[in-house]
Amino acid sequence: MAHGLGTFVVLALAYFTVVWATDHSPLQDFCVADVSGQVLVNGFACKNPNSVQADDFYHSGMHIMGNTSNFLGSSVTPAFVSQLPGLNTLGISLARLDFAPWGVIAPHTHPRASEILTVLEGKIQVGFVTSNPENRHFSKVLNKGDVFVFPMNLVHYQRNVGNTYAVAMVALSSQNPGVVPIGNTVFGSNPDISTDILAKAFQVSDDVISNIQLKF
Ligand SMILES: *[C@@H]1O[C@H](CO)[C@@H](O)[C@H](O)[C@H]1NC(C)=O
Repeated sequence: MAHGLGTFVVLALAYFTVVWATDHSPLQDFCVADVSGQVLVNGFACKNPNSVQADDFYHSGMHIMGNTSNFLGSSVTPAFVSQLPGLNTLGISLARLDFAPWGVIAPHTHPRASEILTVLEGKIQVGFVTSNPENRHFSKVLNKGDVFVFPMNLVHYQRNVGNTYAVAMVALSSQNPGVVPIGNTVFGSNPDISTDILAKAFQVSDDVISNIQLKF
């Protein structure tokens, strides 16, 4: 009995040691070492605490409507660590989403964050798709005051399903969530992914892929 318990404790300690030994989650896409440069860390180095002011924890402008005059009819106004330095190392951030009537935020992922959205104005359809092999698509139409969560890393989208402007606020579980729009990354990379690779991947002709690549 005592021996069994001892084994359990040793195994449990080994397990937690492994868990604690992992790196912190990355806060930027990559961190190329600059051996002769200034200190660079995952995220940003810290300002001297003696010179920190209230304004370091402050950002304004989230009441201002974004410019939705683009082919998607949408706009994202971020309050990430670049806009609000006090967010560094805190693992949270915010963004305002504006939608023209029937405007879309195209399918994308956030490599470092889950996202929780609340509708302030209008009616917004949201959805996300799970990973292989299920690829389940969860979708819902949200009204003012409704809240929806997009689990970390999954492909998701939003669309205004109304004839008026729509506004949402989202919170993200990273100071620097990053965004990977599927269209831009797959069809608009620099340099291009070879057309024949994408033709095979999407089971269409090279011409169809070339046309899409031209749009990005
Ligand atoms: C909105 O964006 C469009 C397209 O970039 C631009 O032509 C227009 O001047 C912008 N409008 C405002 C109010 O900034």
